[in-house]
Amino acid sequence: MSKYTLTVNGQSRSVEAAPDTPLLWVLRDHLELVGTKFGCGVGQCGACTVHVNGVPTRACLTPVSTVGRMAITTIEGLDPKGAHPLQQAWCELDVPQCGYCQSGQIMTAAALLKSNPAPNDEDIDGAMAGNLCRCATYLRIRSGIKRAAEIAATATAAPTGKPLVTTKGGQQ
Ligand code: FES
Ligand code: FES
Repeated sequence: MSKYTLTVNGQSRSVEAAPDTPLLWVLRDHLELVGTKFGCGVGQCGACTVHVNGVPTRACLTPVSTVGRMAITTIEGLDPKGAHPLQQAWCELDVPQCGYCQSGQIMTAAALLKSNPAPNDEDIDGAMAGNLCRCATYLRIRSGIKRAAEIAATATAAPTGKPLVTTKGGQQ
């Protein structure tokens, strides 16, 4: 066993684990961040996707000893209020079916939107190809990503546009 201090969702977290322990088990079993799922365990399904320094990464294939102090973001840390544009769009369009794959889908999609804020179908299909969904929600995932892009664009545009006026006549 070795001791590791990780940076997870902006916080320092210390764990004791064997060096080859997959990051997935550290997140789920040591840190109780169970939003990240175990699917195949061999890098083929994407259910375990987290961000490591912003890069979508298969936690099942990532030994804890290789992470150091790189910034790990899980679905729990994607947005402090759980209101990332993707999460808003996912609710609005009822994207999940069983839900099992969806945190991995959202983490991969979040990285896509960061690098490409207005992806087309081809961009989306290319970026999401490694994330499998046994319920075949692929068309809703694609719609959700496009809707999230719209939500993010609106949120970005609002503060610089005409001041918003509330129903009480004040500005927000
Ligand atoms: S559980 Fe990691 S890719 Fe399937
Ligand atoms: S929603 Fe069931 S596996 Fe994707």
